[in-house]
Amino acid sequence: MRIVVAIGGSVLLNNYDSKKFQEYREILENLYAEHEIFVVVGGGVPAREYINIVRGLNGGEAICDDIGIEVTRINAKLLSIALGSHAYQKVPHNFQEALEYSATGKIIVMGGTEPAHSTDAVSAILAEYVNADILVNLTSVDGMYDKDPNKFEDAKLISEITADEMLSFIQGKDTKAGTYEFFDMTAIQMIKRSSIKTIIANGYNPENLEKIINGEKIGTLII
Ligand code: UTP
Repeated sequence: MRIVVAIGGSVLLNNYDSKKFQEYREILENLYAEHEIFVVVGGGVPAREYINIVRGLNGGEAICDDIGIEVTRINAKLLSIALGSHAYQKVPHNFQEALEYSATGKIIVMGGTEPAHSTDAVSAILAEYVNADILVNLTSVDGMYDKDPNKFEDAKLISEITADEMLSFIQGKDTKAGTYEFFDMTAIQMIKRSSIKTIIANGYNPENLEKIINGEKIGTLII
């Protein structure tokens, strides 16, 4: 299969150390033996901290986004260092470069591309570009809930949702630099227009990725 995986920066850098990168190395190396893999890495807390500094300097939203993108690229570089010779050691800055580098047959790891969306959107656009069989979005919660699980104890995990339902759910949520809530609109629009099979699941346990690829039903499936 051709797989696009988005890993949230908050997942990889939850403790600001190398542990999650090493855990993902193991899982991605196993999958690489049988599949073609593209990974998109998010910015996490460091991106938000840097963006706050830019705000303190009166930088506009697009400049905040630019700084966020730089941080996602540093995180992508860290993951490619972890993957060593299995990964192409240059982080693509756009989709054409990602395609070009994938001709090497190595795992491609990238971060952001341009302002005004998050790496969720990058992963969905990349999935379109490379005609991926599946898009897996690994985040800091178990999937999509009917309400915020951090605020409501009785929040229920949604096992299947249509792209249209997700769009109406996310409508009106914040889209300022560093503040994308859960999933961004552009990502869902791409998933909808190209009917990309997408699963959102908890990335703190990297084994979830292997389970999903092996057909286990976890997280939320966007249909
Ligand atoms: P993230 O994709 O990590 O955004 O990119 P996020 O959803 O806010 O954070 P996570 O999910 O907790 O990791 C960090 C920031 O970088 C900018 C945006 O400002 C985004 O909020 N960015 C990223 C872009 O402008 N364009 C991109 O292609 C990627």
